[in-house]
Amino acid sequence: MKKHFLLLVITLSFIARGFADEGMWLPQLLAALNEKEMKRMGMKINASDIYSISKGSLKDAIVSFGGFCTAEVISDKGLLLTNHHCGFDAIQNHSSLQNNYIRDGFWAYNNGQELQNPGLFATFIISIDEVTATVLNGITTSMSERERQSAIDKNIDGYKKNIKKESYQDIVIRPFFEGNKYFMFITETYKDVRLVGAPPSSIGNFGKDTDNWMWPRHTGDFSMFRIYAGKDNKPADYSADNVPYKPKRSLNISLDGMKEGDFTMVFGFPGRTTEYLHSAAVEQIMNVSDPAKIAIREKALDVLNSFMRKDEQIKIQYAAKYAGIENAYKKWKGEVLGLRSSNAVGKKQELEGSFEKIVLSQPAMNIAYADLLKKLKQAYADIEPYALARDYYNEIISKIELFGIAANANSVVTAFTKDEAAYKKAVIDISEKLNGTFAEYNPSVDQKLFEVLMEMYVNNQKGENVSPLLKKLLAENSNSYAALAKSIYGQTALTDLNKTKNLINGVATSGIQTVTNDAAAALYSDIFKTYVTTVSPKLNEIQNTINQLQRTYMQAQMDVFTKKVFYPDANSTLRLTYGNVKGYTARDAVQYNFYTYLDGVMEKYKPGDYEFDVPQKLIDLYSKKDFGQYGVNGKQPVCFIGANHTTGGNSGSPALDAYGNLVGLNFDRVWEGTMSDINYDKNICRNIMVDIRYVLFIVDKFAGAKNIIAELKLVKKKK
Ligand code: ARG
Ligand code: GLU
Repeated sequence: MKKHFLLLVITLSFIARGFADEGMWLPQLLAALNEKEMKRMGMKINASDIYSISKGSLKDAIVSFGGFCTAEVISDKGLLLTNHHCGFDAIQNHSSLQNNYIRDGFWAYNNGQELQNPGLFATFIISIDEVTATVLNGITTSMSERERQSAIDKNIDGYKKNIKKESYQDIVIRPFFEGNKYFMFITETYKDVRLVGAPPSSIGNFGKDTDNWMWPRHTGDFSMFRIYAGKDNKPADYSADNVPYKPKRSLNISLDGMKEGDFTMVFGFPGRTTEYLHSAAVEQIMNVSDPAKIAIREKALDVLNSFMRKDEQIKIQYAAKYAGIENAYKKWKGEVLGLRSSNAVGKKQELEGSFEKIVLSQPAMNIAYADLLKKLKQAYADIEPYALARDYYNEIISKIELFGIAANANSVVTAFTKDEAAYKKAVIDISEKLNGTFAEYNPSVDQKLFEVLMEMYVNNQKGENVSPLLKKLLAENSNSYAALAKSIYGQTALTDLNKTKNLINGVATSGIQTVTNDAAAALYSDIFKTYVTTVSPKLNEIQNTINQLQRTYMQAQMDVFTKKVFYPDANSTLRLTYGNVKGYTARDAVQYNFYTYLDGVMEKYKPGDYEFDVPQKLIDLYSKKDFGQYGVNGKQPVCFIGANHTTGGNSGSPALDAYGNLVGLNFDRVWEGTMSDINYDKNICRNIMVDIRYVLFIVDKFAGAKNIIAELKLVKKKK
């Protein structure tokens, strides 16, 4: 009796304390689904303080940063905080051998010094509403996927026309729960976003690839931008006359720091998760597609690395590309390990067992869902060879810049065959694009990538998927990839910006052969044609079947597991996730603490090292313990972890405390938990945040950018 009572108390207190749980929640549904639990876990504000359309709420301080990251407004002059790796492309674009902002950092000490970034934007979410009934009106289960989609598109177009919105607003309608629900977002996009500050990479990307996706972490992964608006505070194209944006809401910053167990929220735009897959799909990711993509990227990274280490110019040119390739590469490696060690497939199969039992026990469900799991399993088996061919095509062809340039040149030809206006527009658009491409292009690097990757393209997949022209050219070059690469890169005009522009300009006067006869353009056309004829049709057909089955399976899981509260997979829309600050047990006998300090940076510090060097100024501040108001007990906090369910796209998301104050900046996940996109496990999945006090220490003490500190609203010892 006593024992039982004790057990009950333990269980109850566990529930009452709440524990970090999975979920990326829709902000407008927090009041209905999550508020109670959030308060039990320690939240001190209301759901309506997070999302409201009638008053300013936290959501008004959150933006999608360029569509690939999150940023937050932290001053009433539109100052934005995001990650260093999110601002990296902008930082790279402003860098040269003379002004190497990647290496040395960049700080604007007044508005006039801030740097313009064409193409970069910040999108606010004004309101979110469910529109399922309207979008799915007239949709029946007997429709093919194509019929269904075109009916949905028609419904959406019709609906959008009748929605009242301001001229500077956009309407976005997106599917959720695999197309079982639809939500509408009214958005406002600001297109004048200027670079304000970034630390040197040795701080902003300290530890580089070795530390990426790892804990303990010591990276000051932040950069700052500013939104500019027209004089009326509305979105406006770049103009020197634009003024700093006055936000509806900016975040207050707490200097109190976090204790173990403290409640945290992460608010932002998570990109993509697939938490409701069939076990067969998880198995395929783990055993087939991740390993294939890993192998390809490993080769590509080796090539890039060998050039970048030797040449500072190439290092600048390829920095963002390299980081992007490496980032997913390492994540997939962690994902495979994590799926295996967390027995993700076994867990899915267990879930499928319970699913089947409940379905069998209820006649109505039996009719609707009887063969569902079997069909899904079959469809995943069917798609495997085609999906692999797709991975090979996408991963390899996209890494070889010459093919990208060829694709652009070919698109000018396509436009020419349409009409003159289309051609003229294409020449202008593509020329503009090529300027950007060639700024980050080196033909020797690309030729080596071609040599190494085309060998994989030919040897690691079925012969019928390989371009016949490529096979022929290879034979003519005595089956040497080096010789073939040399020959193609020697003949083509597409390795040179001006020659490429001449080529596409020449189409009007000399005909399309100027492009189609080019060695690289011709080869790329054949590779593309081969893919489109041998892979695409079957791939798309099976993918349609899978989409339809997964949509049914999603609905079925909600029908069957009625006690569970479901959240939709991430799809780059605004979400809130919450949990507690805490460490974790990585494996037998290995326990990780939840905080890191500047002491750890100095422990990792290796003078002159590619990844672990630090600026002298940081060492000096450390030796003098000159941490200002940002240190605690003679130590400078750097990073911390929590059990918040995040994914790519959550980079730059604010970490908020129980009061909604900014305490950190999300930028990564721990190695053991990178499989959380597919199988969230609350015991080992943790997100990594840089402590806001480290950010401010760097801005204030390291960079001396007092102008930035003066803009912020710092709160201390809140109640
Ligand atoms: N892994 C983090 C994210 O997924 C950070 C990446 C930036 N750092 C790097 N070394 N590439 O994007
Ligand atoms: N670094 C990731 C990003 O760029 C966020 C970390 C994650 O994937 O969880 O969005």
